[in-house]
Amino acid sequence: MNATLPILSIDGISKRFAGPYSLTRRLQGRPPLAVQALRDVTLEIHRGETLGIVGESGCGKSTLARCLVRLHEPDGGAIRFEGEDIARLRGGDRRAFNRRVQMIFQDPYGSLNPRMTVSQILGEALSVHKMRPKAEIPHRIAELLELVRLPQDAAARYPHEFSGGQRQRIGIARALAVEPEVIVADELVSALDVSVQAQVVNLLLQLQEQLHLTVVFVAHDLRLVRHISHRVAVMYLGQVVEVSTSEALFTAPRHPYSKALLDAAPELDPSRRSRTVAARGELPSPLDVPPGCAFASRCPHAFDRCRVERPLLTPRGLGQLAACHLEDFGAAPAQ
Ligand SMILES: Nc1ncnc2c1ncn2[C@@H]1O[C@H](COP(=O)(O)OP(=O)(O)O)[C@@H](O)[C@H]1O
Ligand code: SF4
Ligand SMILES: [Mg+2]
Repeated sequence: MNATLPILSIDGISKRFAGPYSLTRRLQGRPPLAVQALRDVTLEIHRGETLGIVGESGCGKSTLARCLVRLHEPDGGAIRFEGEDIARLRGGDRRAFNRRVQMIFQDPYGSLNPRMTVSQILGEALSVHKMRPKAEIPHRIAELLELVRLPQDAAARYPHEFSGGQRQRIGIARALAVEPEVIVADELVSALDVSVQAQVVNLLLQLQEQLHLTVVFVAHDLRLVRHISHRVAVMYLGQVVEVSTSEALFTAPRHPYSKALLDAAPELDPSRRSRTVAARGELPSPLDVPPGCAFASRCPHAFDRCRVERPLLTPRGLGQLAACHLEDFGAAPAQ
């Protein structure tokens, strides 16, 4: 296997959803508007890294995460897993992909069957992919509970008997049952209290190291992303506008939107949480994406070219990539 080949490469994917079909459009005989959820997203994910994906609500993070595990099919572009286009995988290759790339969902209430005990939930995951002979399943369940630091008596209990943080641990154990190589965690801890968030994120961090997992960590909360990610992709209105190492992003962001997000990020101390929005002005509608740079209507550095020409993701030294016409926006006067 080629050690330098990204485990997953996302190559110019786009995804549209049918938008609301207004009466006016119906009467005019026009088709419904389309929501541009992803627009030409290109991104590499390397084996063993944690890649954070951040951006305001509605910018396409979940759509991208769902495309990675084939819950959505992109309209254009391709996603390759170890070089193979995942849309073309069939039979055993497709089943192997479904096992090797696992998603953990935000809502542990919705994703765990309330009528099944933890033992049944984990047992089901183990049998679907024939991970262990039947006789070894109880032992493997015990191992999985230990891995996610849940007590052994959790096996006989039902999801509603656990706290939100514990339920997320069950979700992690279920994903790990099939021994995946990639975990896609979409807002894994967003619904949890801040103190519990840190525990679950620390657990994921330890498991990532221990099991050499590749993790795609989707979150709108920058503090968590900084703590857990090696690299971070910043999304805005369906596009990736910056990719940087976590360190570089937080010390020297290369896109004005990343800077605005950082400036608005809540303090670590919850009592000092900022209420600042990420950028002035309204987020444009994904039903009507402006030409040129999608951030132009909110960017303090926007100039004429920004409104007509779309900036492409280009290298910015130190392994950073940014989609902005200004190489050094810090040096540019705010308009
Ligand atoms: N199944 C869907 N049908 C229609 N629109 C959708 C669907 N899923 C997402 N969208 C729209 O796509 C855009 C991106 O959504 P999403 O990927 O959920 O963003 P995020 O996870 O960053 O909040 C939003 O405008 C959202 O309303
Ligand atoms: S391309 Fe222009 S509008 Fe877009 S982020 Fe850069 S300076 Fe701002
Ligand atoms: Mg989401």
